Amino acid sequence: MTSAAASGSATAALPTRFCGIELAHPIVNGSGTFDAIAAQRAFGPALVEQFPFAAFVSKTVTLAPREGNPPPRLWELPAGLINSIGLPNKGLAGYLTHDLPELAALPVPLIVNVMGFTRDEVAELVSAFAERDEVAALELNVSCPNVETGLIMGADPAETALLVERVRPLTDKPLIVKLTPNATDPGAVAVAAEAAGADALSLINTIRGMALDPRTHEPWLGGTTGGVSGATVRAVALAQVYDVAGRVSIPLVAMGGVQRGRDADDLLRAGATLVAVGTESFRDPLAGARVADELTRIRRPDARPGARARG
Ligand SMILES: Cc1cc2nc3c(=O)[nH]c(=O)nc-3n(C[C@H](O)[C@H](O)[C@H](O)COP(=O)(O)O)c2cc1C
Repeated sequence: MTSAAASGSATAALPTRFCGIELAHPIVNGSGTFDAIAAQRAFGPALVEQFPFAAFVSKTVTLAPREGNPPPRLWELPAGLINSIGLPNKGLAGYLTHDLPELAALPVPLIVNVMGFTRDEVAELVSAFAERDEVAALELNVSCPNVETGLIMGADPAETALLVERVRPLTDKPLIVKLTPNATDPGAVAVAAEAAGADALSLINTIRGMALDPRTHEPWLGGTTGGVSGATVRAVALAQVYDVAGRVSIPLVAMGGVQRGRDADDLLRAGATLVAVGTESFRDPLAGARVADELTRIRRPDARPGARARG
């Protein structure tokens, strides 16, 4: 499998194995929260040499190109964000032509996140990436409605199971199912995904929320509602990760409000194997490297002279 020995921050030294993939440390990005191509243009080659994450998770790719939701797309909370970006992307063909070659050149394994509006659409996406050596693993974003059943795919255990059973035979690559917190019982969905053949689970995606325009009192976001993320959701993420970890035996990628090494350590202690940094990267594009360094100091206080153990 792909090796990522060159990845990550200068000091992070927490080698981690995830679904057979060797990573320099357990910190990755949350899908859609770090644009590695734009960041390279903004920060230059140093960003690639000191890539902040141990693996790169691409933003969601859909079969057809999407414009995304009308503006405004963001609402800032006292400790987080509500976004209604609406998954704009170039579609599968555009991604394969334009994004994949650039992302494959990153010094870390590439995890591609896909989403479809029917099981057949997801199957087409999975099949297309199954044959690409550049792709180390696939993440299924199931936070969307199945247009054939009207159900949010990841909100219902049976619906999730049908989807995973449909795509599981199409690839040998690790399949990560990204759970939605907007389910009655995310733990039951997790159990169903594991039984249907998922290799790993990631959680949490954003929590449905909304904001009103302070002047008009109408919904602020162009999409009316959006997804809440950032520090505001951290306690929810910790509870869901702890619950899911107790109910499945496959590895977890945990995320939700991670800002510091200590937050990542909490999620690892709750049962995760990897931790993703999302919203925090908007404030600090190098947050991933900082969190990895802080986590290293917590977990390996001997790794740096003078470093103090977790207090
Ligand atoms: C602006 C923005 C865009 C996002 N885009 C995606 C996406 O394309 N696919 C996806 O699966 N999750 C997406 N997410 C969800 C994040 O990957 C993550 O699950 C969530 O934000 C919780 O982590 P955080 O609190 O650290 O941001 C997005 C989140 C934000 C804030």
